[in-house]
Formats: sequence, structure tokens, C-alpha cells
Amino acid sequence: MTDSERAPLELEVPGDKSITHRALMLAALADGESRLSGALPAEDPRSTAAVLRALGGAVPDLPPDGGEIRVAGRGLHGLAASSRVLDCGNSGTTARLMLGILAGYPFEAELTGDASLRSRPMRRVTEPLSAMGASFVERGEPDRLPIRIRGGSLRPLAYESAKASAQVKSAILLAGLVGDTDVEVREPLLSRDHTERMLRAMGAAVLSDRLDGRHVARLTPVERLEPLDLRIPGDFSSAAFVAAMALLGGRSVHVRGVGMNPGRTGLLAVLRRMGAGLVVDNAADRSGEPVADLHAGPTPLRATSVGADEIPALVDEVPIIAVLAARADGETRITGAGELRVKESDRIAALVSNLRRLGVEAEELPDGLVVRGTDAPLAGPVRTHADHRIAMAFGVLGALPGNEIVVDDPDCVAVSFPGFWDVLRRATEGRRR
Ligand code: S3P
Repeated sequence: MTDSERAPLELEVPGDKSITHRALMLAALADGESRLSGALPAEDPRSTAAVLRALGGAVPDLPPDGGEIRVAGRGLHGLAASSRVLDCGNSGTTARLMLGILAGYPFEAELTGDASLRSRPMRRVTEPLSAMGASFVERGEPDRLPIRIRGGSLRPLAYESAKASAQVKSAILLAGLVGDTDVEVREPLLSRDHTERMLRAMGAAVLSDRLDGRHVARLTPVERLEPLDLRIPGDFSSAAFVAAMALLGGRSVHVRGVGMNPGRTGLLAVLRRMGAGLVVDNAADRSGEPVADLHAGPTPLRATSVGADEIPALVDEVPIIAVLAARADGETRITGAGELRVKESDRIAALVSNLRRLGVEAEELPDGLVVRGTDAPLAGPVRTHADHRIAMAFGVLGALPGNEIVVDDPDCVAVSFPGFWDVLRRATEGRRR
């Protein structure tokens, strides 16, 4: 092993996907020119950029190096009708947040997506938006895209959300913003609050509060949004795969400039319970979003339990937790995660079937899964169901010495983490058989 292989791998991960979507949308609606650097140059944000462009938004192509882009905002009411069907690709955030924005516009638009997105529920946003006065026609299956929306004059809404979903909350906040009406969303647990933080950074009056045990986000209408000047943090959900590789025996890593929004970092507490020696330092603030550096290195892991109240802050990290559990000492139980059945794939079924195919004992629960850790070499094919996080989680497991795992669709990582396979190779240099 060379010295450079022994030294920690210093890297940054690509920009935060959730923040990139919101930055593109809100910059397009601002008064004046926004400057964004570190936007995630991946397929999901490109879907958002393309949809905004189809509606007349001045959103440029996202440069592959995350370099600066400038977005000339059209103002809150500056988007225009499009004769084209708006294709959201694989991106649930594009579809659900754009439905919120379009609810405030007095024209018709039709949204669709790829086969995965067309199988995901949409009434969670169309129902509250209907209560505000928007109307919807489901052009295919009930509760699914393609959907035609007609927005216009909206009424105020105080919405009790049964689940903690940032997409539902954001769709309603954006409808209130564009439709010039008061909205309030209450949720049982706090979902990621990027929309609220960004709107505040742009001068909007958005209040976040606790009331009777519920988390409340409230928006009062504003006349205009100030442009954004933002360096988008690295995506915690991408850093999670890199940190997991280090914990499982790859090179130690220092990931710089990772977004540390508390609605995203629930994985850290889980990893600490599993025995991981993680260090988070160099904390800073970028337009209201916390960032820090994350350090991780090889650690023996023990099993843990993850319950419903932890899920919102780690909802996208369950695939990598399941993979870490496969290499931890004991039985890990994850519950309260029924939402995973309607992500880019049914992640509970995909995780359990793939773990079993590789020789790991695992069981499905209606709302979660149980995984028994093993030291045995793991071999076999993995079916991603075109789900980027399933591909990356098993990619990490497959990079461990002794394992022979073939991921059927490695390219599907392009929706959120371009360059993932290259980073994985660097993180395991000198660690292979
Ligand atoms: C996201 C919210 C989460 C998350 C998704 C991105 C967002 O979905 O799983 O990957 O950017 O708002 P839910 O709102 O359905 O929990």
C-alpha cells in the first residue's frame, strides 16, 4: 500500500439534490439575477431545469463541474404556459414541487415522468392543492402521473399532514407563495426544511414553530423574492455512501462542505449507536443551511434499532443502513419506514430480496425490515429496479474485499451522484483482495 492510499481520502461530494431543485425553482421566481454554484449536475435537477425552461424560466444548463450558473429570475408571476408535456423524468421532487408552483398560475399544464415516477402517488399533493382551489385531471391511473393541472386564484389553507413529507409541505408553501395566499402546514415530525430556509434567505416571511407537539410551517404572501447568492452544500445523502465505505473498511475519508441540515442528518445518531467513530467539524453556515466536514474511518459495527420518529431525518439513508447492518454484529430492526415502499422503487422489498440473494438473512416487515449481520463473503447479482440508492448501497457492499456483487444497472446513479463509481474506486484503492 502506498502512502497516498494510507492517507485519508479528501473529497467533496456533488451538490445537495433537494437544495439544487429548490434553488433552481426559487431563482426562476426571484426578482433579479441569482448566482448559484455547486448545483448538482445530475439527471434529477436537470429535469427541474428543463421543466422550468419549458415554462419560460431562464435556467441555464448545469455545468458538469458544479461551476457557477446565473439565473435571471422572472418574478413570482413570470412563468408562462407551455404547449409541451412537462417531463419530470425520475424526480419526485420535481413533480411534486412543480405541481405546487403551477397551482398558483392561471393556466393549464401537464406533468409526466418515467415509469418509476408514473408509479408513485401524487394525491398527497393534489389533494391539499385542490383544497386551495387548483384542479387536476389524472390522465392515466388514479393517484398517478400524467396529471393535468389548472391553477389560478387560490384560497388560504391550514393543512394537517398525516406524514412528515418535505415534498408535500414544500408544494403547499410554493402554492401559497405563487398564489399570494396564506398557508400553514402541520406535520407530526419535522421533515427537511430547505424550502423554508431558502425562502427566508430570499426575504419571505416563513415561520417555523412547534404547536401541540406538531411542527408548523407558515407562509404569509410576499410581493417579491430577493435573488439568491448561494454555494450549494455537498449532499449529505451522497456523503453517507462514502462514509459507509470507510466504516466498512475502505480508506478513511474527509468529506468537506457537507450539508448538515438537522432534517437530513439522522444517520449520524444511528451510526454512533452502531459504534462508528465519526467526527463532524469545521461547521459553517451557507445562506441559512448548516455545513460541516465529515470524517469517517474503519470501525467494527454493532446492530441497532431504528424507529418511526427517526425516519424523516434519514428517510433516504435506509438503503445504506440496511447494508451496514448486513456487516454489523447482531440483528438490526428498522420500523416506521412504510414510505420506503413508494420511493424510486419499493425499497423495503428491493433491499430484502437483494440481501437474501447475496446470502444475508433479512426479512420484510410491512413498514420496515430486519437484517442479521454476517462476516461471510457475499456474492450474487443485485437488481436495482433502476433505483439509484439501491445501486449505491449495494455498490458499497460489493466493493468490500471478498464480496462478488454485480449491480444490474450501475448507470442509474446518474440521477443523484454522477461520479459515484469513480469515488468508490478511490475509496477502496489498496483495500481490494
Ligand atoms: C425530498 C423529500 C423526501 C426525500 C426525497 C427528497 C425533497 O421525500 O425522500 O428524496 O427534496 O423534498 P418525502 O417528501 O416524500 O419524504
